[in-house]
Amino acid sequence: MDQSGIASVALEMIQDGFVLGLGSGRAARAFVEALGTRIASGLKIRGVPTSRQTADLATSLGIPLVDFHEIDSIDLAIDGADEVDPELNLIKGLGGALVREKIVAAAARKFVILVGTEKLVGQLGERQKLPVEVVPFGWEVCQKKLRHLGLESERRSSAGQAFITDNGNYILDCQVGPLVDPQALEIELKCIPGVVGTGLFLGMADVVLIQHPDRVESRAKSAS
Ligand code: A5P
Repeated sequence: MDQSGIASVALEMIQDGFVLGLGSGRAARAFVEALGTRIASGLKIRGVPTSRQTADLATSLGIPLVDFHEIDSIDLAIDGADEVDPELNLIKGLGGALVREKIVAAAARKFVILVGTEKLVGQLGERQKLPVEVVPFGWEVCQKKLRHLGLESERRSSAGQAFITDNGNYILDCQVGPLVDPQALEIELKCIPGVVGTGLFLGMADVVLIQHPDRVESRAKSAS
């Protein structure tokens, strides 16, 4: 999918001096690359990356990066998503950066998501597994607790090895199916000792930019 349309619309939201949360994944990459072009022509912003991969990309493009101790808040965070429901709730984390992405999104005054139409679902869990990041110590216990909640899970691997997140943790990809009550599930998951974070981003997105073949659609969170 060509991500340039949504990346350009996201660029229009940026003002000189902004602190930007820089997401991870393909859509976020398209945005960071477009941002690099604007930086080269004089735009002054600072970025907070959500993964080492994004940090490396931003640095290679001359985008200045800052850490949380250097800022009060993030003006705008831009990221991709794996699923978006009609209320703009999300599943994220297929790329494994979910915990940092959620921390950055939570610190942002505005959280904007870039997706293609294939990411739109009626209910979260329809398309993909739900990633849950767990500390390596006792991860098998987390897996059993997930099973008690009715969720079969698989520890994510990459090239035959356990996938390790930027935080040094594992990811358990949970078979969820369409979620009737994602909020209740989020609470249950967060109560499991060893769970660091989940890929459920509920009520966090302010705007979702959707790339259609011929146009960009913008959906904003309803006021309620
Ligand atoms: C990274 O951990 C993810 O949350 C990504 O934001 C998400 O997987 C979307 O990635 P794409 O834009 O590559 O589909």
